[in-house]
Formats: sequence, structure tokens, C-alpha cells
Amino acid sequence: MIYFLDTADTAAIARLADLYPIAGVTTNPTLIAREKRPFADIIKDIRAVIGDGAMLHVQVTGNDADTMVAEARKLADFVGAGFHPKVPVTAEGIKAIRRLSGLGFRVTATAIVTAQQALMAAVAGAAFTAPYVNRLDMIGGDGVRVVADIVHLFRIHALPTRLLTASFKNVQQVHDIAMAGAHSATLPPDILEALIRHPLTDSGIAGFAADWAAAYGEGRTTADLI
Ligand code: E4P
Repeated sequence: MIYFLDTADTAAIARLADLYPIAGVTTNPTLIAREKRPFADIIKDIRAVIGDGAMLHVQVTGNDADTMVAEARKLADFVGAGFHPKVPVTAEGIKAIRRLSGLGFRVTATAIVTAQQALMAAVAGAAFTAPYVNRLDMIGGDGVRVVADIVHLFRIHALPTRLLTASFKNVQQVHDIAMAGAHSATLPPDILEALIRHPLTDSGIAGFAADWAAAYGEGRTTADLI
């Protein structure tokens, strides 16, 4: 499983990338806009926090393939190694994915809500496909089912494209896509942190700490006793 952070909040990225095995960061126009500061500064700051070479997925905002390709070329110079252009799966987007993949870009096809969109993007050469799980669940769809179908399709068609599952609002969704065989997930900070949180773990650790302190003294660790 490869974990990404789905945010443009550099303070959150710095804190969580220090704690968790994060392979990179994904952004989208909404996440960038939420920061209310210059786009270039945000991208530079994310790059500084995650380091050179870590994956950074930045979405193009043009509507036609020519514009998207030009954006991706310019972003590639700006973002550096590990840059992945995110391209939505419109008809022009598929055209851009074909062209960018031919130029050697590792494209992330985004805004995917059906398995056929993912299949088309993969055949067009996308390196990653980003199906939106929660957005489907919110309208009575089945995001996990779509992910499972994509996993199955890529397997039976022997496509090397990876799934970068996206749009999560709870831990169960993340568990279900992992069980379905998805390769990676991009998570908002609160969902990433919730993945390992459990009251039984907290009470278990508190019990260990109390027993230890009673026997060996407050604040002493194993290293103090050998
Ligand atoms: C994925 O590429 C998007 O950035 C994102 O995961 C969408 O998530 P949302 O539905 O929480 O906006």
C-alpha cells in the first residue's frame, strides 16, 4: 500500500510526513484554492517539505488537450523530479493523457467515477488512475465496488496502470479499497491519522505505562535500566 496526503496544507504535510510512511502529496484546484495564497508559493513549499523526488501530483486546469499539455510541461520544470500531472478524464483529458504519456510523463488520470473511465485512461497510457470513492458513496453509489472493478479490469487486461484511490471520508472506505486490492490511497490528514487510532490501543498503552512507573519509577525507560 502506498499512502499519499491529499492536501495543500504544508503545516499538516510537514507534521504527518515526519510521522507516517508518506510517498507523496496530491493536490487539486479546490485544495490549492483553500490555502488562499499564491499557487507557486504553495507548490514550492510542498516540495520543500516533502523533499526532492517525492511524488507531487498537481492538476492541470485547462479544458483542451493543447493547454493541458503545455501546463504539464511548464509544471514539470517548476515542480521537478517526482512530478505527476493530474489530468481529468474528459475527452480532451484522454487526448492529453495519450500525448503526455507519449512524452514520458507519468500521468494521473483524475475525477474517475466509473471503471470504464479508468480503463480508457489506462489504455491511453496513464500511470495512475484516481477513482473518487466518497463522492460516489455520497450519491448512493458504491465507490468500493468501482475500485474493485478497476482492480479486476487492470489485472485481466494486464495493464500496468496503478490505482491511486481518492476521496475518502472514513476509515472503513480505506479498509475496503485495500481489501479490494487497490495499490495506493490519497488521504486527507484527518483520515490518515484515524487509520491507526483506537481507544483500546490508548487504554492498553496507558495500562503499560502505569504498571511500569509503579515498578521502576515515573519517566524511566528501558534504556535507563540496563
Ligand atoms: C483526488 O485526486 C482528489 O484530490 C480528492 O481525493 C477528492 O476528494 P474529495 O471528494 O474529498 O474532494
